[in-house]
Amino acid sequence: MRMLNKHAGIIATGSYVPERTLTNEYFEKTVDTNNEWIISRTGIEERRAADENTATSDLATKAALNAMEKSGIKAEEIDLIIVATVTPDFGFPSTACIVQKNIGAVNAAAFDLEAACSGFMYGMTIADSFIRTGVYKKILVIGAETLSKIVDYTDRNTCILFGDGAGAVIMAEVEEGYGVLATHLGANGDAGHLLTLPAGGSRMPATEQTIKDRMHYVQMDGSEVFKFAIKIMGEAAEKALENCGLKKEDIDFLIPHQANTRIIESAVKRLKISKDKVFVNVNKYGNMSAASIAVALDEANEQKCLKDGDIVVLVGFGGGLTWGAGVIRWKNYGR
Ligand code: UT7
Repeated sequence: MRMLNKHAGIIATGSYVPERTLTNEYFEKTVDTNNEWIISRTGIEERRAADENTATSDLATKAALNAMEKSGIKAEEIDLIIVATVTPDFGFPSTACIVQKNIGAVNAAAFDLEAACSGFMYGMTIADSFIRTGVYKKILVIGAETLSKIVDYTDRNTCILFGDGAGAVIMAEVEEGYGVLATHLGANGDAGHLLTLPAGGSRMPATEQTIKDRMHYVQMDGSEVFKFAIKIMGEAAEKALENCGLKKEDIDFLIPHQANTRIIESAVKRLKISKDKVFVNVNKYGNMSAASIAVALDEANEQKCLKDGDIVVLVGFGGGLTWGAGVIRWKNYGR
């Protein structure tokens, strides 16, 4: 329920993906897989991978600068930076602090948040609350990942799925009736074991043995995560719509987390919307976790898919397990 009379919206979007491209043919040479399997089971044709000298903050910085350049918003105007990521540059300092330094946002507070592929939705929800309560005025929310650094390239179950990239939005106060109308977040820690990076944290610090056992790479029970995803995508979107008194029939455009076309199709079916109202770029980038929705939103915006007054729904799910959805009445605030 909206508690205050301020309203927060997205006033700029930006993104960046590294140039290096890994095609399905590349994986045919490295693991026991083939292009037909990957396309029919996931919809992915290629994904991006950062080089060894590039870290998550480098991608995040470029996405942030892209959003700032498009909107004319200067670094000094930004008063908070939130970076959603599961692949931070370091344990600490946070990736958000590195971005703050890189862009020269000297007046900004900065922190990272970890909600896996739902991270951007969590970040957007926090930014919405801070703006509505008047705590901050211009917030940079970034979803950024270099999943190529934590993917086991010998494991065909996971290596074909993930890619690198970053998306950014600038959020600020907007006029009544526009911007974020409602959000919905959720988590089920009971099922956290389905998608993990077991070693390198305080539970299992790095040792020679953990490295030998390949415990510093993503581990996933794909089919269980799949079952969860096809249930939660539609449910979360409907909850967020309900929170602002709207229904699935009101959706003008859907930007779902880009994990797998079959998961997106199941959400489309449940929400009963036509495919031309749904943005899909998983074929080009694979699953970029916290960056997926943010990059898709920027591409949808650049391709002029979003018109003033449109009800735009963003929805994602991921490790934790977590999920998150947001309903926005869109307005283009471009210069
Ligand atoms: O953002 C959240 C992150 N995670 C996800 O979104 C992942 C959600 N899950 C999925 O997208 C799907 O479960 C996958 C794409 C990962 C797998 O598709 P599936 O239809 O659920 O396949 P499956 O896991 O049931 O595996 C079917 C078969 C298995 O072989 P057997 O045991 O039936 O002989 C796998 O070993 O496919 C095999 N397989 C592969 N075959 C060729 C798994 N990966 C590959 C591969 N190439 N890359």
